[in-house]
Amino acid sequence: MKAAFIDDTGPVTNICVGSVDVPAVQPRQVLVRTGAVAVNPIDTYVRSGNVKLELPARYIVGCDIAGTVESVGADVSGFSVGQRVWGSNQGLFGRQGTFAEFAAIDQCWLYPTPDGVGDEDAAAGALTGITAHLGLHLHGGLQQGEVVFVNGGTGGVGSAVVQLARAAGATVVTTVGSELKRQTALQLGADHVINYREEDAATAISNFVAEHRPINLWFETLRSPSPDVTIPLLAKRGRYVLMAGRDARPEFPVGPFYVNDLRAIGFAMFNASAEEQRMAADDLNSLMADGQLRPLIGKRLSLDDAASAHQLQEENTLMGAGTLSGKIVLTP
Ligand SMILES: NC(=O)c1ccc[n+]([C@@H]2O[C@H](COP(=O)([O-])OP(=O)(O)OC[C@H]3O[C@@H](n4cnc5c(N)ncnc54)[C@H](OP(=O)(O)O)[C@@H]3O)[C@@H](O)[C@H]2O)c1
Repeated sequence: MKAAFIDDTGPVTNICVGSVDVPAVQPRQVLVRTGAVAVNPIDTYVRSGNVKLELPARYIVGCDIAGTVESVGADVSGFSVGQRVWGSNQGLFGRQGTFAEFAAIDQCWLYPTPDGVGDEDAAAGALTGITAHLGLHLHGGLQQGEVVFVNGGTGGVGSAVVQLARAAGATVVTTVGSELKRQTALQLGADHVINYREEDAATAISNFVAEHRPINLWFETLRSPSPDVTIPLLAKRGRYVLMAGRDARPEFPVGPFYVNDLRAIGFAMFNASAEEQRMAADDLNSLMADGQLRPLIGKRLSLDDAASAHQLQEENTLMGAGTLSGKIVLTP
């Protein structure tokens, strides 16, 4: 089968697209015929070696997948040949990745794809959808009527946060880097959109808080968080959700943090149990089925273009190019 793999971590040019064996299916695994895969920043960190993980020799890159069940292992229940499925959390902790024509995946990481939802959409919303859901609900305890702020309302995670927060009955404030992206964020359900390249975002959020209400849940997607800006803008018992910026060491204003009963919560989606991820996925499925969640796709490529896809993701997530809205999806 065709696959995008690396033999050594390093630059995007280390990605080869070539032929590898179709994986053997273990008793509790499902063999998925790939319909689409999506790129995530973590794919690029693992490929580059910046995040060090134990990798299978000849490591197939990628976490997300959507496709059709080709065969099932002897101990699999609940999945059958021909069923459409999606999943995430692959290519991590020694598991093989998804950027191939077939992937053998433990059944605990797979979910049925709702009728009417295409493979590209299901793949695009996989890791980012689960991440947004875990951050807002499991970790952030979002309540109806609260105010959510997220940076990057048309980014991979941000676009999912906007839609999920809106679906949960929150007021959503977000930032974007262009006027076109402002329109996209509004279409996704944001109530108040700030163009961070045109105006000072800290001042604009502060003005929103002064005119309306403080922020109950701040979902920080930036790799350089600014607690000095965020903490004074949070409501009493507000939650500051941190999920990016491994090397960030910002100053932290303790006074306004504790006197307002605030909570800072860090999380990485891949730490969530299979059951926690399934609960998030079930909810995402309901929202996709009734049109409240439409994963945002900014670029469609072929599996042959896996190296260009990593390059584009890095230019945007690491270098702030601003040339991408939402997800990059690849088809075999
Ligand atoms: N902890 C976890 O479980 C987890 C899971 C997924 C991702 N992550 C991390 O979360 C981060 C975001 O991931 P992603 O997939 O959403 O990346 P992404 O698709 O590249 O999105 C990045 C977003 O940041 C916005 N942005 C960049 N500079 C900004 C600034 N100065 N002010 C406001 N917004 C700015 C971009 O806006 P414009 O395009 O409009 O410029 C874009 O929307 C990455 O660091 C990733 O590694 C963590």
